[in-house]
Amino acid sequence: MIKNNILAIETSCDDTCIAIISNGIIIKNIILSSAKLQNEYGGVVPEVAARAHEHNILSAFHDAVGGFDLKSLNYIAYTNNPGLRVCLNIGEIFAYSLSSMLQIPLIPINHIYAHIFSFYSDPKVNIHYPFISLVASGGHTSIFLVKSPIEIITLNETVDDAAGECYDKIARELKLGYPGGPEIDKLYDHNKKDVIQFIKKMPTADANLSFSGLKTSVLNYINQLNMQKKPIDIITVASSFQKTLMDIIFDKLHFYTNKYDIKAIAIGGGVSCNSYLQSRIKQEFNKLIIYIPEIKSLASDNAAMIGIYANLYLNNK
Ligand code: KG4
Ligand code: ZN
Repeated sequence: MIKNNILAIETSCDDTCIAIISNGIIIKNIILSSAKLQNEYGGVVPEVAARAHEHNILSAFHDAVGGFDLKSLNYIAYTNNPGLRVCLNIGEIFAYSLSSMLQIPLIPINHIYAHIFSFYSDPKVNIHYPFISLVASGGHTSIFLVKSPIEIITLNETVDDAAGECYDKIARELKLGYPGGPEIDKLYDHNKKDVIQFIKKMPTADANLSFSGLKTSVLNYINQLNMQKKPIDIITVASSFQKTLMDIIFDKLHFYTNKYDIKAIAIGGGVSCNSYLQSRIKQEFNKLIIYIPEIKSLASDNAAMIGIYANLYLNNK
């Protein structure tokens, strides 16, 4: 077997990430997050994130390659798209420099495709194709039909806010800090999920994904109470919001899993860490094989998923 030792780089948002993947096996997965810095601004400021990448990338590299012979590397994989341009540039320049210094090829990787396969941390296991994949993060929310690592059909994507963006904006309004998804996840109370009806009518299952109507409705609700100087029941707002957002997503997932003859369903992206999403997937799709990133650090942004996808791509091109 040809040995694919891949050094992978991910700098599309606020995490500076470098990983080493050897034939699909994660050897190192270093993540230096600037989320604490972003917390002061209540969301990601591209220039702040880019400066943090500049500051952190050499440390991430040293942590990743410590004890590893650079001469045994065969490829440099890096996220080239989509993401914050000023942030992507830092990883790209670093990748080009390493590739030229070590005289090994570069593999540009699509960040979202890497999220699709972030569950694939054990290369000994076979993937059951085709499968439906939900990628929900701070920048993107899409549903794909995945026929192979290189045959990926976009079935639906949000026309406005991403699911994670919605979590973050509502959490900011509720003064829960950034990133807001994990905070709302922790506060969620099953008994309070149906207390507030934030949208009057669910969109039809085949319509484009959209979260801005829900976001506006929740923000208006909070603002009105603030203006009237009335107390806000944060747990009720968070629980009813989360339930509605997931209802929107699950309607689509049911629509596509019924429409296509598929064997499995996968989730990826930061929002896939959500406990309620994970338990609902297991409950409502118990006839399908379910792929969930096993390790939390593989669900949100990381470089291991970039290397895992690069390895799959090399084996399938
Ligand atoms: O994939 P990711 O790390 O970065 C992007 O590519 O955007 O996703 C980050 C997003 C943030 O919006 C964050 O609030 C959300 O994922 N997130 C969650 C949870 N953990 C992270 N959303 C809901 N529940 C969670 N447990
Ligand atoms: Zn991401």
